[in-house]
Amino acid sequence: MSSTDQDSKAKHVPVLLNESLKCLQLSKGDVFLDGTLGSAGHSAAVAQQWGRTIEIIGLDQDAEALKRSERVLSSLEANYRLKQTNFRRLDEVASELGILSVDAILLDIGFSSDQLENSGKGFSFLHDEPLDMRMSGQGVTAAQILNTFDEDTLELILRGFGEERYSRRIAKAIVEKRQSQPLETTSQFVHLIEEAVPIFYRKGRIHPATRSFQAVRIATNDELAALEEGLEKGFNLLKSGGRFVIISFHSLEDRIVKNLFRQLVRDEKAEFLTKAGKPLTAQKEETEKNPRARSAKLRAIKKL
Ligand SMILES: C[S@@+](CC[C@H](N)C(=O)[O-])C[C@H]1O[C@@H](n2cnc3c(N)ncnc32)[C@H](O)[C@@H]1O
Repeated sequence: MSSTDQDSKAKHVPVLLNESLKCLQLSKGDVFLDGTLGSAGHSAAVAQQWGRTIEIIGLDQDAEALKRSERVLSSLEANYRLKQTNFRRLDEVASELGILSVDAILLDIGFSSDQLENSGKGFSFLHDEPLDMRMSGQGVTAAQILNTFDEDTLELILRGFGEERYSRRIAKAIVEKRQSQPLETTSQFVHLIEEAVPIFYRKGRIHPATRSFQAVRIATNDELAALEEGLEKGFNLLKSGGRFVIISFHSLEDRIVKNLFRQLVRDEKAEFLTKAGKPLTAQKEETEKNPRARSAKLRAIKKL
């Protein structure tokens, strides 16, 4: 399948776009770091509004996301430099590019609709794909985690990163199942979860595999540690008066952002850019068009 065919399958729609632009408070001459380019939805909007007067530094750990973003940004009047890397290393990128500080940073974390639908890496429990889940294509795969980690560690992952109430049962089922056949595909994993959990849970509001898939994806990409590191290094890289905007999609991520931002405000190192430090969420018109926006929370601060 060509990349154009793939693009037509699912198109990532940027979430909380107007709210992000408002909180980024860009002005001519600013350097803007987009740490999660995705399909360059937010960065393209910045370029459309500001043309070459804003320098965009764009990062993504996924090579495909970088290619998509390059296609989008090269079709616009934009001043940009893109780099494939994890935002936990944004300090190294800045020094490689000779950047001492930036005016605004956006992290729109998690994964994109393009990754979910088109990557073939097993992010979605709705498609039968290999259990890979590595956004960067490097490191240990989801299958390796499921087939080699001990039962207690798997239980911790499912409970800690998925808040999965049946973590114990699912971990036990994984360890039993893999003795006869290693887990290699998403459908094997989904089937195993469905068999391990009670019937009422299978018929609940969310798919019974939702939380386990989230947990294994977070573990595979070390997402929470990367977020903590990216937040700390991002704040250091911001100049005084710089804006930090984070969009997160589940409570584990949001808790990390909320706690750090509150601490920075308490220490008088930052001020909130949203009313009383409350997160912004999507309006009804947006969630109707883009259901993914339902769980999005935007938090923003200004460095003092
Ligand atoms: C929600 S999407 C961003 C969408 C983008 N704002 C847009 O509107 O097109 C998240 C992107 O961040 C990337 N990503 C997630 N965690 C990352 C990390 N720690 N470092 C770098 N990129 C990351 C993913 O590969 C994905 O492409």
